[in-house]
Amino acid sequence: MSTLLIANWKQYVTERAASRLCAGIVRSATSAPWPSDVSLIIAPPLLALTSCVPLARRTRGRVSLCAQDVGFTDEGAYTGAISPRALHALGVTHALVGHSERRQWYKEDDALIKRKCAAALAAGLHVILCVGETKDERQEGSATRVVKAQLAAVLADQKIRAYEKKLIVAYEPRWAIGTGVPIAPEDARAMHEMIRARCGPSVQVCYGGSVDARNARQFVAGAASDGVLVGSASTTRTSLVAIAKKISRV
Ligand code: PGA
Repeated sequence: MSTLLIANWKQYVTERAASRLCAGIVRSATSAPWPSDVSLIIAPPLLALTSCVPLARRTRGRVSLCAQDVGFTDEGAYTGAISPRALHALGVTHALVGHSERRQWYKEDDALIKRKCAAALAAGLHVILCVGETKDERQEGSATRVVKAQLAAVLADQKIRAYEKKLIVAYEPRWAIGTGVPIAPEDARAMHEMIRARCGPSVQVCYGGSVDARNARQFVAGAASDGVLVGSASTTRTSLVAIAKKISRV
């Protein structure tokens, strides 16, 4: 199975810059020295998806595209919502659901996140479900309980479980996101093992939170993970190629 490199460009780049960056990265990801065992999933800002889709399509699955958020219905009176079916029809293959910035700034709760997962999976998308505890929760020793509860809220739905093969769980401790201070690899490992035990064997598990080219390897090698989810260090081609080389197992 290939190692996943998920690039979350958040609102860091404009639509035009995202298209240019995507074109450059697609060139890198389809030629040497890009490691053959690393699959790249790019989550550009929503408006850039249209121009990135044809670029990714040429890579025959080497590079996939991901929405940073998705709505919980395909159509109807939901102002501002992003239809999972429309994303799928456009050629987008993945959707991030429950990213901590959605939980924090848009007050998304587990019930909404479950509905989004169900809708995205039913529309044919792969879901990257983000879970993770706050700093206070880790300090008071409740990190595992919090992540278990976030997982349980989604996995309780049998319809979602039926799509296990299309589910990726990204463990992203909130306090490690954008701070330059990732979790210790052994703590990541413990959480990844717990997540694996709760989810089916076909669910892939990734780590996210201040991953860069210097620390990426430790979150794959020996950390019981299938890849990494990278924010700020994913917005240049050089940095992304450097991370890809570090997480390659070949
Ligand atoms: P970061 O972001 O790599 O900038 O910490 C990760 C994320 O938010 O997914």
